[in-house]
Amino acid sequence: MSGQREKEEIPVTFAPAPARDARFDVKERWIECNNLPPGDPGRAIEFLHRQMNEEINGMECAARTLVDFPDTAWDLRMCIARQCYDEARHVEMFRELLERGGGRVGQSPVLNFQYRIIAHVDNLVGRLAVQNRSFEAEGVDAVEPEILSARARGDGHLAELYDAQLADEICHVRYANRYIAEVASRDPASVMRVGRALDYASRAFLQVMGREAIDSVNYPVNRTGRLEAGFSPEEIEHSSKLRSAKTASRSRGPV
Ligand SMILES: [Fe+2]
Ligand SMILES: [Fe+2]
Repeated sequence: MSGQREKEEIPVTFAPAPARDARFDVKERWIECNNLPPGDPGRAIEFLHRQMNEEINGMECAARTLVDFPDTAWDLRMCIARQCYDEARHVEMFRELLERGGGRVGQSPVLNFQYRIIAHVDNLVGRLAVQNRSFEAEGVDAVEPEILSARARGDGHLAELYDAQLADEICHVRYANRYIAEVASRDPASVMRVGRALDYASRAFLQVMGREAIDSVNYPVNRTGRLEAGFSPEEIEHSSKLRSAKTASRSRGPV
């Protein structure tokens, strides 16, 4: 067994779960959720429900960061507070779309892994690296195909909503990238805290999602969005190559 595989299999610790009322059926692992196959008539509504809960997680994480790091510089606290407000609007947007499509809050199981992973990181630079520079940057990639797909279906209203959400998510990634770079320039040891936080998050994420869910990601890196969000061209190229390598290994199948 390789050292990497052994590392992946060591159970990680999570922060306590965020509160949810009795309508929600909260699960611990992706495999326990309603993972409907492409083409299933319920898949689109289930997606909206899942996204709504993910936005609740985003709002809760930002709020938790404000509480846990009260001595942070005021400008950064304002960015985090604005993110709270943005994520709350995203929750309302997805709830409206869900209910307009005939769905209801609590209709299918949810995961709260974002909060449980992010709130477990005990330093600000590590936490923003995991929430904003990692999870939210993935969101920047994921929203772009939804905008194109909504436009292709002639649903201009939905395309506009996703476009507005994308603009918000880019701002969330950008302020975190600026803060992480600024801290690294005056405190090089912060790079170690970022590395440790990202390593923890990737092991925790794998434990919740399983290799199958991670490998099912099939959208490309949003190069323009990531550039606007403060990633360097070299970082974007690296992310793109990683994503392409995963796609290629899936299409080849096991050897
Ligand atoms: Fe959001
Ligand atoms: Fe966000």
